Amino acid sequence: MHASLFTDSARRLLDFINASPTPWHAVSTANQMLRGQGSLYLDERESWPDLTPGCGYHVIRDGSSLVAFRPGTEAPSRGGFLIVGAHTDSPGLRLKPRIAQDSTTLVRLGVELYGSPIVATYADRDLGLSGRVFVVGDAEPEVRLLHCPESLVRLPNLAIHLNRGVNEDGLKFNRQTELPLLFSGAIFIELLAHRLGCQPEDILSWELMAHDTQPGTFWGAGQEFIASGRLDNLGSCYAALEALLEPAAPGSATRVVALFDHEEIGSETRNGAMSSLLPDVLERIALGQGDDRSGYKQALARSMLVSADAAHAWHPNFGGSYDADHALKVNAGPAIKINANRRYASDGHTVARFMQVCERAGIPYQKFVQRSDLGCGSTIGPMTAAKLGIATVDVGSPIWAMHSIRESGGALDPVYLSRALHAFLGGIA
Ligand code: CO
Repeated sequence: MHASLFTDSARRLLDFINASPTPWHAVSTANQMLRGQGSLYLDERESWPDLTPGCGYHVIRDGSSLVAFRPGTEAPSRGGFLIVGAHTDSPGLRLKPRIAQDSTTLVRLGVELYGSPIVATYADRDLGLSGRVFVVGDAEPEVRLLHCPESLVRLPNLAIHLNRGVNEDGLKFNRQTELPLLFSGAIFIELLAHRLGCQPEDILSWELMAHDTQPGTFWGAGQEFIASGRLDNLGSCYAALEALLEPAAPGSATRVVALFDHEEIGSETRNGAMSSLLPDVLERIALGQGDDRSGYKQALARSMLVSADAAHAWHPNFGGSYDADHALKVNAGPAIKINANRRYASDGHTVARFMQVCERAGIPYQKFVQRSDLGCGSTIGPMTAAKLGIATVDVGSPIWAMHSIRESGGALDPVYLSRALHAFLGGIA
């Protein structure tokens, strides 16, 4: 593969992540990408127009989950659905609703942990604050997206002179008392109001999170690696979108990309992978194309889902943390994730199918199994598989430092993943 090809794809991924500090921004950025390619936004509260094979449509629920699809030339009862699933959220620090004023000079912003970030990686970083804010509206409250890309808050380390054991014991923070972010003497609500162009008293509620202000970058002697926040799992979201948007003649199957919020906190929300979002959209597609309820069930039985999420790349300094026979290299293609206890949804049949997809598309792939004496993480795959009964395989690009504020991986892997997903959606196997 020509060098500039993979660089272009990784560059576009980093641009997507830089523009998407939060799940709401990720969906907003995806919405712009889809609309730019002619996809029609469908409102869940309305009836939908007749669906045209090959045309693009997308649905958004609560601003942070999105399902995009292109109907196939056959009704789903005969053509089935080919689905790629991923998640839009990443672990981190989320602002509490009340701002504690310690003194006249230093305001601290209390935070809760969202999911399982590597907390120590937030220390001494230049942190921005972004998310969504609800303000008084004419009828219902209005939502405003807020993106503060500049360094606004900070979690300074404690000097080593006051924490002598830090290099032996590791950097630890008490979640309640030691994690509040240092802001300044300014009034936080006034800053928010200024940014949003509203009055401070109009601000009703917010969901804001701290994020690294350092943009994603290439690194290494040949610039063969990338580093960025939120590679888990915006790397998979972006690859899925690229795979859907790359022009292709419509096949018999309906191609679907489902991007869910809340994977990092268990998915049991109104727009997480456990929600009715994907079943609701799939059923409406089937009914809209002339299938009845029984036809919809036939469609599910004919379908397949690829659950794409980041995987753990082999770290040579910590070789003992891996099963050496199933260690993943970066820049060597997507991993197929396998777990006997089905923390990954992959089964023999879906593994074989995804291998064939990769082989026919000329994309390298690897197989991952967690060490038998370490607990295995999970993904949205087992949930959507259980909920819909759709055959599922778990795959993903290997990265280092999963859940760090700055993860890293291979610059070739974004294009490998998006091409493999494109081949899958194209019905190549
Ligand atoms: Co993930």
